[in-house]
Amino acid sequence: MSDKTPVHVAIIMDGNGRWALSLGKNRTYGHYIGSKVVDKITKAASGIGIKYLTLYTFSTENWKRPKSEIRFIISLLNIYLKKTEKLFCENNIKFNFIGNIKAFPEKTQNILQSVTQKTKHNETMTLTLALNYGSRLEITQACKKIAKDAKEGKLSIKDISEGTINSYLCTKGMPDVDLLIRTGSEKRISNFLLWEASYAEFVFLDKYWPEFTKSDFIKAIKEFKKRQRNFGGLRQTIKLFNGTS
Ligand code: FPP
Repeated sequence: MSDKTPVHVAIIMDGNGRWALSLGKNRTYGHYIGSKVVDKITKAASGIGIKYLTLYTFSTENWKRPKSEIRFIISLLNIYLKKTEKLFCENNIKFNFIGNIKAFPEKTQNILQSVTQKTKHNETMTLTLALNYGSRLEITQACKKIAKDAKEGKLSIKDISEGTINSYLCTKGMPDVDLLIRTGSEKRISNFLLWEASYAEFVFLDKYWPEFTKSDFIKAIKEFKKRQRNFGGLRQTIKLFNGTS
């Protein structure tokens, strides 16, 4: 794929629990299969020239889940990272994370830092996992840092621009989201990349995340390519009522 391929695709991987329950299995089985789908979609995305893939893996709200489910997701994350390091190296993928990982066990934090370090020179695609991430918290923390820097004279209030805010977010250096995909039938953004997805195109799917395939992903990209993006401007130059254009 070439022209109009989205640079940054973000995914809300929803429906693991419901998928597992529909098969009479435990919710955690859904997360386990969901982690395998992550690998498939990561490979597919890097293969078609996506430069940034960002996955909502654990939200700031997910701590409300039963402790046993949280423990399972964290241990799955540890296993996934160790196992997937190879895939990152073979496919030249840079691994990255956003969110406050200090809330995770030290072992998980260490693995996250280590995989990030080992893959930092890879350049085909950046895979970012959003971990203990919430957009409102991200924006609140950015505001606090901006206020502190302004108070300390490192920043002048009159110079604060959208670019300044971008540079205080944990997505600093990443382009805006072009396409946001959500599986699992719900049609909401759930505190994910609110600032970064301001002009994103949305694709909602009725499939649960464990059922999501490479072909669904390609279909979503094709759908994106058909969309007319105006960024608040006009579709095309039109004649105004007084004849000017
Ligand atoms: C939403 O399904 C999914 C999550 C809260 C976590 C996403 C986690 C994975 C895809 C698996 C782990 C991934 C890695 C990389 C280790 P849900 O439980 O909210 O589903 P439901 O809406 O059916 O309850």
